[in-house]
Amino acid sequence: MNTLKKMIFLLLVGMIFVTNLQSQLTSNRATPSILNKYDAQIDEIISNMTLEEKLGMFYGIRMFSSAGVPRLGIADFEFADGPFGIREELEANSWSPAGLGNDLATFFPTGSALAATWNPDIAYKYGVAIGAEGRLRGKDMLLGPAINIQRLPVGGRTYEYFSEDPFLSARLSVGYTKGVQSVGLAVCLKHFALNNQENNRGRVDVKVSQRAMREIYLPPFESAVKEADAWGVMAAYNKVNGFWCSENEILQEKILRDEWGFRGLIVSDWGGTHSTVNAIKNGLDIEMPNGMFLGKALVDSVKSGAVSIDVINKRVKDILRVRLHVKPVPASEANKTLTSQVSQQRTAYEVATKSIVLLKNENSLLPLDLKKYKSIAIIGDNAQQKNATGGVGAGVKTLYEITPYQGLRDRLGNTLKVTYARGYKSFSFFGNGPFQFGQPLPSPYVPADTALLNEAVRVAQAADLVLFVGGTNREVETEGSDRTSIQLPSGQDEVIKAIAAVNPNIVTVIVSGGPVDLNTINQYSSSIVMSWFNGSEGGHALADILLGKLAPVGHLPFTMPVKLEDSPAFALGNYPQAGGGFGPDVFVNLVDGNQSAIAVEDRNIAKYSEELLVGYRWFDTKKIKPLFPFGHGLTYTDFEYANLKATQEKYSLNETLKVSVDVKNTGKYEADELVQLYVHRVKSKIFYPEKELKAFAHVPLKAGETTTVTLDVPVFSLRYWDEKKNEWVLEKGKIEILVGASSGDIRQTTGIEIVK
Ligand code: GLC
Repeated sequence: MNTLKKMIFLLLVGMIFVTNLQSQLTSNRATPSILNKYDAQIDEIISNMTLEEKLGMFYGIRMFSSAGVPRLGIADFEFADGPFGIREELEANSWSPAGLGNDLATFFPTGSALAATWNPDIAYKYGVAIGAEGRLRGKDMLLGPAINIQRLPVGGRTYEYFSEDPFLSARLSVGYTKGVQSVGLAVCLKHFALNNQENNRGRVDVKVSQRAMREIYLPPFESAVKEADAWGVMAAYNKVNGFWCSENEILQEKILRDEWGFRGLIVSDWGGTHSTVNAIKNGLDIEMPNGMFLGKALVDSVKSGAVSIDVINKRVKDILRVRLHVKPVPASEANKTLTSQVSQQRTAYEVATKSIVLLKNENSLLPLDLKKYKSIAIIGDNAQQKNATGGVGAGVKTLYEITPYQGLRDRLGNTLKVTYARGYKSFSFFGNGPFQFGQPLPSPYVPADTALLNEAVRVAQAADLVLFVGGTNREVETEGSDRTSIQLPSGQDEVIKAIAAVNPNIVTVIVSGGPVDLNTINQYSSSIVMSWFNGSEGGHALADILLGKLAPVGHLPFTMPVKLEDSPAFALGNYPQAGGGFGPDVFVNLVDGNQSAIAVEDRNIAKYSEELLVGYRWFDTKKIKPLFPFGHGLTYTDFEYANLKATQEKYSLNETLKVSVDVKNTGKYEADELVQLYVHRVKSKIFYPEKELKAFAHVPLKAGETTTVTLDVPVFSLRYWDEKKNEWVLEKGKIEILVGASSGDIRQTTGIEIVK
C-alpha cells in the first residue's frame, strides 16, 4: 500500500476512533446497549423477510399487541399497562375487559408514592415485582414507568409521575427500569416527551427552550436509557416545539438514538400517531393500537418510493432487537396462575411503608400511644375509598386493597373502641346519577353535605382522638384531564373545622397523589400524614406507621404550595391554555379506526417560560414560601448535622465531588434520615436556579447513634446546557454545597470551586 493510501487509511481509522470517542463522551453512556448483539442475526432474518412481513410489524393487530412473523417463528409482541399494576386482560380489539378470573394483579403504590421513598433500591424491587406479574401474564413490554416531570400541581397524572425534580426522577427511573428488565420484561419509558399536562394532551404544542428540555424534562429518560438500557420508549401525544412527538426527529432520532445510544423500539401512545412518512422516517417503530397511518398507507408509501426500504429495514431492526431479547411467554404458560402473588404483595407493603410522609407532628400525637385513649373516631370517606381502579390506562383490577380503615381495624383489633363517620362523600363523576347534557359538569369542589358533617361532629365529640382521612381519589386525579384546583374536594375543609370545634385532638391522613391545599387542615390538625394512593397494602402500611411499629421515612417529591397561584405555570399565566378537551385535530375511533374531522383551532400553545424554574427551583429562586417544601419529611425522632466538609477545595470535569457530614439521631426512635445535597452557584455568569438537588442518601440511625455520611456528585452533573454550542458545558467558579433534611431545611454549608 503506497504512502498516500496508507495516510488516507490511517486518517479514516483515526476519524472513526474520534467519532466513537466523541459519541462515547457526549453520550457518557457507561456501556453500549445489550440489544446491539443481535444486529448480525437480525440482518440475516431481514434478508429472509418479505416486504409484506416487514410492513406487517409496524402497527397494532390487537389493542395491546403488534405482529411478529409467524412464518419465521417470530412471536407477536404483547404490551401491557400500567406503571403500578398489570392491567386486566381486555377483549382483543376493544377496551372492554375480557372478564378473566386470574388477571387480578397487585396494586402497587403509584408514582408519587414510590418517589416519596427517595429510594432507587426500592424502585428496583418495585420493578422486579411488577415485572414478575407482567411475565406471569405473558407480556413482553410494560407501558411504564411514567416519568414526566410534575410541572403542574394539578396535572392529571402528577400522581402517576415521580417528581418535580429531574435528579430524583432519574434515580428512580433507573431503579425501576433495571428491576423490570432484570426479570425479562421490557419497560416503555413514557411519555416521551414533555407530556406534563392532560388538558389538550392530544393537541398541546409545548414551547420549551433547549436548556430547560435538557436539564429538567429529559433527564429521567436519558438516565434510564444510558444507565439502565431501557428497551422501549413511548412517544407522547403532544407536540414539542411544533412537531408531534411520534414524528419528532430531534427527540426520537437525534437525541434518543444518536446521542443517548437507545437501541430499543419506539411505540406511539394509543392514537398518538399523526402521519405515515414523517412518523416512520423520524423514528417511530410501532403505531398503536391500529394501522391508521402505518398500515396500508405505509404500503402505498413504500410502493410510491416516498419511504425507502432502508428506512423500513431500520425500523424492523429496532423491533427485532427487542423481540429477540425479550423471550415470548408461550401461550400455554401465560395467564395460567393468579397474577398477584404474596411476594409481590410484600413488596407493595414495603414500598408503601417507606412512602408515607409525616408532614407535621406537634404535640407528638404520633405514634399513637393507645394507652392514652379509650376511643378513636375514624372520619372521612377516603378512609374506605379504594383507589386501584380509575385513571384510564393506569387502573388495576386488583386482588385486594387494604383501605386506611381496614388497615387500622386489622392492626387495632379490640384494643379500644373505634367509631366511624363518613364525614363527606368522595367525588364521583356519576355520583349523582347519569350525566345530564346541558347541565354543568359535576365538580369535586362542592360544599359539605350537612347530614354527613353533623354525623361526623357527633362521632368526633364522643371520641378521645379523631383520625381524619381526607384527600382526593382516582376520579379527581386522572389521566385525560387536569384538576382545576388543589382545594380538597367535597367540603372537607368545612368538615374538619366543625370537628375541631368539638375535639382538638386531630390526626389528619391525606390520601392523594398530587399536592392539595392543606391550609385549613394544617390549622386544625396536630399531626398530618401523606399516605398517597398507596397500593394493595396501603392501609396496613399506614396503620403500622401511625401505631409506631415503623417510623415514617418518606419525603415529599414535590412542593406543597400555600396556594396554586404561587406555582410557576400559574404565576406566569402559562396555564391553563385556552380551549379544552382531549384529542388530536382528527377524532380517531380507537377501535374501528373511523375518522371524524373535528376542526380544532390550534390555540393550545403551552409556553414553558418558567424555563428551569419548575417546583422548588421556582419557589426558592422567587423566595416564595411553600406550605411544605420539596424533600420535607419528619419522623419520630430528630437529627443533628455537623462537620460538613468536601475532600478537595477545587474540582475539575472528570472528578467526583465528595462530601462528608456527621448525622446524629438525638431522639429515642430508630429511623432513617434522608440527607439531601443541593448546589448553589456563587456569582455565576450563567443563570441557575437558587438551588438544585444533586445527591441524597438514606441514613438508618438507632437512638443516640452518630454516623458519617458521604455523598458523591460527579462534576459532570454540574454542567449546564449551552444553547449556542448545543452541548453540555461546565462553568468555572464557586459553588456552595448545601446539605440538609429538605430544600427548605439546610443544616450545613461549605464551598468548593470548579476549575477547568
Ligand atoms: C393512554 C396513555 C398511556 C397508556 C396508553 C395505553 O392514553 O397515555 O399512558 O399506556 O394509552 O392504554
